Amino acid sequence: MKDEIILAIESSCDETAVSLLRNGNELLANSVNTQIEDHKRFGGVYPELASRLHLENITSVLQYVLSLKGFDYHSITHVAVTGGPGLPGALQIGAMAAKTISQYLNVPLIDVHHLAGHIYANEFVHEFRYPLLAIVVSGGNTELVYLPRPFEFHIMGETEDDAIGEALDKVARALGLPYPGGVHIDKITQEPNIQTIPLPKANVPGYDLSYSGLKSHLIRMIEKEKKENNGTLPPERVKSFALSAEKAFVEQLLDKAEILKNDHPVKMIVVGGGVSANSYLRKRIRERFPNGPEIVIPPLWCTTDNAAMIAKAAHHMIQMGLLSPLSFNTRPNRDIEKEGKKYRIQ
Ligand code: KG4
Repeated sequence: MKDEIILAIESSCDETAVSLLRNGNELLANSVNTQIEDHKRFGGVYPELASRLHLENITSVLQYVLSLKGFDYHSITHVAVTGGPGLPGALQIGAMAAKTISQYLNVPLIDVHHLAGHIYANEFVHEFRYPLLAIVVSGGNTELVYLPRPFEFHIMGETEDDAIGEALDKVARALGLPYPGGVHIDKITQEPNIQTIPLPKANVPGYDLSYSGLKSHLIRMIEKEKKENNGTLPPERVKSFALSAEKAFVEQLLDKAEILKNDHPVKMIVVGGGVSANSYLRKRIRERFPNGPEIVIPPLWCTTDNAAMIAKAAHHMIQMGLLSPLSFNTRPNRDIEKEGKKYRIQ
C-alpha cells in the first residue's frame, strides 16, 4: 500500500513551522522558525508583525523541509494546516500556502484545530487510551478537555479570565524577567530551598479555573515590595515570588483535574501547550496521580508550536474522513467542541 505522507503547516501565532509525517508516526522532517526574538521588545506577540514574518519565512521553511535528502515532493499524499484558533492574519499565511500546495499536487487538504494538535502531540509518546483527559495550557488557553473517544472534545472546565501562561508572563514582567516570562520563571525556580510566600486559593465552582485574581494579588505584592526597596527586588525575593506563582497556578490546575478524574472515568491524562514545558507541572502531575490514570507528557520539542502535532492530528482526521474543501476559511476563535463534525465526508 502507498505510504501516507502528510505535509503540515502551522502559523497560528509566532512560529512558522512545517513538518512531514509518514504513516502517522515517522517524522521525516520538522522545522520551526520562531519569532520570539522579534516580539521581545513589545513584551508579547505583536499580531501585525507576526503576519509579516510568517509571509517572509514560510517559503524558506517549506523549502528547507522539502529539500530533505532523497525526498520527492510528489510523494506527499495530504496537506494539513492549522485553521484556527490563532491570530487572524497569521493563520491566513499558512492556510494560503497549504491551499496552494494542495491544489498544485492535487491532494486532499485537512484543516486542523490548533489545540487538537497540542493534544494529539502526546501520541508521539504513547497511543491514546480513552476516555482521556487533556490538560491544555498555553499563553491563550487553559482548558480541561474530556475525550470519551477519538476526536470528540468536551470542554469540562476552563479559565474564567486569564490563561495560565498569560498570568505567569504578567507576574514575570512585574518581576523584571524577559518575555516569554513563563520560560524564565521556570529557569530561576530550579534551585532547591527557595522560600515560598503563602497565597490565597482561587475559589471557582466546578471544573473552571481563575488566574486573574491571583495574578493581580501577586503583582500588587511585588510592586509594594519594589517601592520599599528603591524600585528593585533582591534576587532571592524574585525567586520566591516566581516559585510561589508557579506553584499556586499549577496546583489549582491539578486540583481541578483531580476532581474531574474522580467524577468521570479517565484512562489517561495528557498535557499540551506551551506551559506543558514547565518543570514544576511535569514533576507534580506524576506525583499527584500516583495510582493512575496513566500520565503522558509531550517531549519538550513538542510543547511549543510546531507542525508535527498538526500532522499527527491530521493523521487521525484522515482516518475519520475529516477532509476539508479548498474553500475552507480560517477561524481565529474556533471552538474545539465542534471538531470532528465539520466537512465530514459521508
Ligand atoms: O502554546 P504557546 O507556545 O503559545 C501561545 O499560546 O501563545 O504558549 C506560550 C506560553 C507563554 O505564556 C510562555 O510563557 C509559556 O507558554 N511557557 C512556559 C514555559 N515554556 C513556555 N511557562 C512555564 N514554564 C515553561 N517552561
